[in-house]
Amino acid sequence: MSALPPFANEPILELRRPAVRSQLIDALSAVDQTLPLEVPVMVGSDVRTADGAAIDSTDPGDPDLLVARAAVASERDVDAAIAQASAGFREWSERSGEERATALIGAAAWMRERRLELTALEVRECAKPWPEADADVCEAIDFLEYYARAGIELDRGRPILQVPGERNELRYVARGVTAVISPWNFPIAIACGMTAGALAAGNTVVLKPAEQSPGCALRIVQALRAGGVPPAAISLLPGEGDVGAALVRRPEVSTIAFTGSQPVGLEIIRAAAEMAPGQKHIKRVVAELGGKNCVIVDADADLDEAVPAIVSSAFIYAGQKCSAAARVLVHEAIADQLIERVAGATRVLVVGQASDLGTEVPPVIERSAQDRVSRYAALAESQGTVVARAELVPERGWFCPPTVAADLEPGSPVLDEEIFGPVLAIERIRDVEHGCEIVDGLPFALTGGLFARDPATVRYVRERTPVGNLYVNRGITGAMVGRQPFGGNRLSGTGTKAGGPDYLLHFVEPRALTENTMRHGLVV
Ligand SMILES: NC(=O)c1ccc[n+]([C@@H]2O[C@H](COP(=O)([O-])OP(=O)(O)OC[C@H]3O[C@@H](n4cnc5c(N)ncnc54)[C@H](O)[C@@H]3O)[C@@H](O)[C@H]2O)c1
Repeated sequence: MSALPPFANEPILELRRPAVRSQLIDALSAVDQTLPLEVPVMVGSDVRTADGAAIDSTDPGDPDLLVARAAVASERDVDAAIAQASAGFREWSERSGEERATALIGAAAWMRERRLELTALEVRECAKPWPEADADVCEAIDFLEYYARAGIELDRGRPILQVPGERNELRYVARGVTAVISPWNFPIAIACGMTAGALAAGNTVVLKPAEQSPGCALRIVQALRAGGVPPAAISLLPGEGDVGAALVRRPEVSTIAFTGSQPVGLEIIRAAAEMAPGQKHIKRVVAELGGKNCVIVDADADLDEAVPAIVSSAFIYAGQKCSAAARVLVHEAIADQLIERVAGATRVLVVGQASDLGTEVPPVIERSAQDRVSRYAALAESQGTVVARAELVPERGWFCPPTVAADLEPGSPVLDEEIFGPVLAIERIRDVEHGCEIVDGLPFALTGGLFARDPATVRYVRERTPVGNLYVNRGITGAMVGRQPFGGNRLSGTGTKAGGPDYLLHFVEPRALTENTMRHGLVV
């Protein structure tokens, strides 16, 4: 393989161009012709379509529209997938980093060729608005390209101290079978990223995607196989949480890469700690979990910058990004002004179908999410003051009006729990130190934001905040692979950051070799 060019992020589409917009609309009509997608269980080269039990994924904006019908993996499928992944491990792990990178880069090329189609599928299956769906596909391509390079690098090992008469070597080798269990909110990027990380490091993967987005997951597996990942190295097990739980229990699984909610993540960590008969590894769980992300706004903040950034961080994709802004902690000197401006900007948000290019806030993913968000919105009303609600909300689909609440009672669940929907709380703080105390008091530590002009304030907050990703004077979502390695601390996760230089270390074990070369000399 000739040397790869340095990693660069996949450029996003220029959606302001009419030609690009019409290409997207054409891509959506073309995708619509193919619906519903049949998503099979894919175990090695075997493909089993739904013969009885099936999971339907529907358009959140039009719940009667069936987007994909997925077979449901049985216990027998889980066994077969694990057997395939175990049998295929040696061959895949013995390939060089370059060979594995070639397959991942081939998968990236497959996605690049079908970018518009993949974007349109996300618009339908997960109601991701066009810019967000496009960014998600770009991120998936980025993960493939970035981890391909990181895998080559890791394969070389690390330099360590050498002394006369001794040769020392530090290598990293794949751990074995990885179970990837993914969420729906970045339906291609996150499942693809975890899978690509494990594969790049030489592991085989069994992917259990979210039940809400099996169609997107099918495309990931097709991309990887088209790129040259052998079928035994990547299997697809669609299903609900019980399929994920069955994978976690299997003794052959050495690593579990999970992204999702905190309760499920903690349950996986607990289950993975139980030794099963025949188990030869201590299972490693990479868990990227939820957050309750706060933005501190100091008295000297530039509100022209802060207001749009807060509103988009809170409401883009209906607040369903793990990085979304959930709480604003604003200096009391400018609180009234900020509340008025955020409220005004929220009232005029365009709530609509993800497929409409003008939509700013799409529906939430499913009925249970709509119910959950409505419960928190009602609590906000009874425990605080609702200062804004976007009232123009379509009737069909799982829409929730973007809502801003202020002056909530301390201890309100609206302040303490992850809502994962378009509800933003604004609180008054005495000063930045007070804001930092509130942030430090939370068990979550995923993303956070600060709007302030004084560099000393920026330094102070950087030292005080425990969050995994702190954004200063900008929105708090939209981490880019290679530029903003992403992941939370505390109860928000155990990871070493997706899209960062340490991510692949999750999927390897280090091996050191020391050879006495004194008597026989160094054989090269
Ligand atoms: N930190 C991050 O990088 C990040 C990124 C995206 C989403 N998230 C979080 O993900 C959540 C939203 O995603 P979701 O609704 O898909 O999460 P979820 O926890 O409900 O589901 C995630 C996956 O786990 C599976 N699952 C459910 N129960 C299981 C069990 N007992 N054992 C094994 N697997 C099981 C599901 O089927 C799905 O595939 C939010 O909390 C969000 O903050 C975090």
